[in-house]
Amino acid sequence: MADIETVKRQFEAVLHNVSDDVRSQFLSWIKNKINSGEWGDVTREKSNEDVMLESIQSDLRSELPVNAVSHTENIHFPQTGPNADCDPSTTVHVDAFLYDEDAIDDLCEDQEVQMNCCCGSQEVQPLTFITHSASAAQVKYIFNYALPDLSGKTVLDVGSRTGAVLYGAYLYSKAKHIVGVEIDSTFTSLQTAAVAKYNMADRIQVIHDDILNQGPLIASSDVVILNNVFEFFVPKDLQEKLWIYLFATLRNNTILVTVPSLEESLQQLKTGINLEQCVESIDLTAPLQQGRLELLDSADADDSDLTRIHLYRVLASHSPCQ
Ligand SMILES: C[S@@+](CC[C@H](N)C(=O)[O-])C[C@H]1O[C@@H](n2cnc3c(N)ncnc32)[C@H](O)[C@@H]1O
Repeated sequence: MADIETVKRQFEAVLHNVSDDVRSQFLSWIKNKINSGEWGDVTREKSNEDVMLESIQSDLRSELPVNAVSHTENIHFPQTGPNADCDPSTTVHVDAFLYDEDAIDDLCEDQEVQMNCCCGSQEVQPLTFITHSASAAQVKYIFNYALPDLSGKTVLDVGSRTGAVLYGAYLYSKAKHIVGVEIDSTFTSLQTAAVAKYNMADRIQVIHDDILNQGPLIASSDVVILNNVFEFFVPKDLQEKLWIYLFATLRNNTILVTVPSLEESLQQLKTGINLEQCVESIDLTAPLQQGRLELLDSADADDSDLTRIHLYRVLASHSPCQ
């Protein structure tokens, strides 16, 4: 019988001798075999970090309504841009951190969320699902695959909401200082309670404030996360002010993690920000390939969760940007 090292070498030799396309199909085939259980239960045990994240998710599910919209906030539906088709009457907020695709299917089966709705004309219209939090897969992808080693670094999540990114940074990176700034009081309290319960206050700080008051923090952060932070929460003129302020405050070399791309976020706004001069895009082809394989449940799963994540390095922060 061959030993494990020999088997690994043979496996790698097979992968080296085929085209990228065949390699990808072959790996997907293996993944499907494993997921289907055809080869027995060969999946590795969950890590302590995954178990802890699941426990936080479960706590938050019990504290928030299914739509995870707080009574202290006002959602603004965009009037222009790619999300302008989010008709409030056919749009359902389902928090992707609290409910993954399987959990949404369960909710649909339990009729808590109906996949289709009848409008006045008796037509049946499919619902648009939107989330205001990063999913667990996105959080793991950002900190396990997309970002470099964060030892000693400061991570800032602008608009930290349920705290998904904060817990992810704590569990899946070595960042020294992880800060969430959130304007909504309900979500700030929720994050503060989770951080205390899971003993994460040694590295996580939650600040209840408008990011416009946090210039020194923005300027001292090595990584700034901007997950669709303003579009559904503030009117267009204020979004413009916020982006201009951010770009005037960020320091050179800070890494930005954005959903969607900066180009898409700024497209409908009049900010005068010249992205070509302020940021360079960081290529995510390799981490994406690895993340897809290891994080998504089936090989043909919709990977738009991961592909919507973009990384940039800040090149210049003041006048050259505009
Ligand atoms: C789409 S959620 C992002 C959630 C979180 N970062 C994540 O990835 O899971 C955006 C959050 O930003 C907050 N927000 C919007 N404008 C803000 C501002 N000016 N200062 C601080 N937080 C803000 C909103 O209240 C909302 O909870």
